[in-house]
Amino acid sequence: MAETFAIEGGGLTRRYGGFTALDAVDLAVPDGEIRGLIGPNGAGKSTLIDVLSGRADDWQGSVRLRGADISRLSAQQRRRSGLARSFQRTNVFPELAVREQLEVASWRAETPNVDEVLHEMGLAAIAHMRAADVSYGDRRRLDLALALIGRPTVLLLDEPAAGLSMKESMALAELLRDLASRWKVTVLLVEHDMDVVFSICHRITVLHLGRVLAEGTPAEIRSIPEVVTAYLGSAVE
Ligand SMILES: Nc1ncnc2c1ncn2[C@@H]1O[C@H](COP(=O)(O)OP(=O)(O)O)[C@@H](O)[C@H]1O
Ligand SMILES: [Mg+2]
Repeated sequence: MAETFAIEGGGLTRRYGGFTALDAVDLAVPDGEIRGLIGPNGAGKSTLIDVLSGRADDWQGSVRLRGADISRLSAQQRRRSGLARSFQRTNVFPELAVREQLEVASWRAETPNVDEVLHEMGLAAIAHMRAADVSYGDRRRLDLALALIGRPTVLLLDEPAAGLSMKESMALAELLRDLASRWKVTVLLVEHDMDVVFSICHRITVLHLGRVLAEGTPAEIRSIPEVVTAYLGSAVE
């Protein structure tokens, strides 16, 4: 019997006019895995997350969530089916309190777990503060918290640690790893910091120019010269 994956994309293609940002990408992440998605700037990582989460309007291919074909579902319907995402740019309303943001996100959730998420993400003490007034690190944790409302089964995270210090990035990554294992969430993680990726991901997919260049364990990925080359190209962004 064919294995059922938590999330599976087949032949995913996304064009912008004549430019192919995503070129027939296949990706299958088993249940419970933290999968890293890396590649130089412009490789198509955010585009892949947009396509998987239902935020691309012109694309080809298929998306399956735990075996069910969700290709025709809207972003909201995918979210209700258990597929959540965060955005590369912070996505909060600055005027609302931290708790209010999470409450807004939980309106349509079957499991409105606001208190649980506040506690898990270490935001309970600042729940009353306006998002505009919390530290940048807390705001990034709020972004992640918003994606955790409703206890998703699959999380697509687009650079959740962007702008954090190395130490803060690692702390956020460890929080994520711990939560993913306790809640049994499958994670697709786009992350710039290779220390984070290599320390928390079970496997890594490398995208380059819209195609999968390699996929393997952290040790396998580290030993591929093309990957190192692709990365040297993006070291100065
Ligand atoms: N709205 C858009 N219109 C035209 N080109 C786009 C658009 N969004 C992304 N692209 C292009 O698609 C490619 C992949 O972008 P993106 O998925 O954002 O890459 P990454 O997240 O890996 O940095 C890039 O070359 C980018 O310039
Ligand atoms: Mg991106």
